[in-house]
Amino acid sequence: MIPNLYKIPKHVAIIMDGNGRWAKRRGLPRVFGHREGAKTVERVIDIARDNKIQWLSLFAFSTENWNRPKEEVEAIMSLLVEYINTKVPSLIERNVRLRFMGRRYNLPEMILNTMEEGEKATEHCTGMNLVVALNYSGKAEIVDAARKIAEEGKTDITEEEFRKYLYIPEMPEPDLLIRTSGEKRISNFMLWELAYTELFFTETLWPDFGEEDFAQALYEYQSRERRFGRVLENK
Ligand code: FPP
Repeated sequence: MIPNLYKIPKHVAIIMDGNGRWAKRRGLPRVFGHREGAKTVERVIDIARDNKIQWLSLFAFSTENWNRPKEEVEAIMSLLVEYINTKVPSLIERNVRLRFMGRRYNLPEMILNTMEEGEKATEHCTGMNLVVALNYSGKAEIVDAARKIAEEGKTDITEEEFRKYLYIPEMPEPDLLIRTSGEKRISNFMLWELAYTELFFTETLWPDFGEEDFAQALYEYQSRERRFGRVLENK
């Protein structure tokens, strides 16, 4: 594909949105959109790897998504379990390490076991980190970190120290966030980590998202000037 190799984001985060609308436009049940969305996940992993992106994180299921109709929740969970069960060998082949971020303690045991097996099986992979946010919300992550800090009785907390209590402390903050389907919101995704992230919104629905859309997001990212709140010296 692809853009300029000199300024490739280290971490790309994606809010995969529009599966339901994709299905609806075809007169299909929403779950067909999620199934198609899982195929996009595969495509996007390959594009990210080809571009030497080191961290790819995907918002798959939020703590609020449990309020969707029961059949849809079950369908998404089955898709995730099926994905882990069938794709782990191919992730290993592609040298991709699978990790999950989100609240684990109230997840059904079968799902949690499958997630942990996937993480364990790919632990040695060093090519790219694939982070799937499941039962995740940014506010919950911050609250969970604060709880752990309180449990440990710490009082002298700096930003650096706080970071260590997030779900994946070693995960670098996203350089680029992509949201599909035309919605322009953060929707409780990585509230701490997105502080200085460049945002890219596209009208493309997640099941249709492909190489061209990804390239467009990378070009756009490369054209941005990141200042992190500073005044640049040559200005
Ligand atoms: C948002 O579309 C999508 C989701 C809430 C589910 C995402 C899940 C997958 C793509 C399944 C597979 C995931 C992995 C990691 C293998 P929406 O339903 O909110 O769409 P809408 O806004 O058009 O209704």
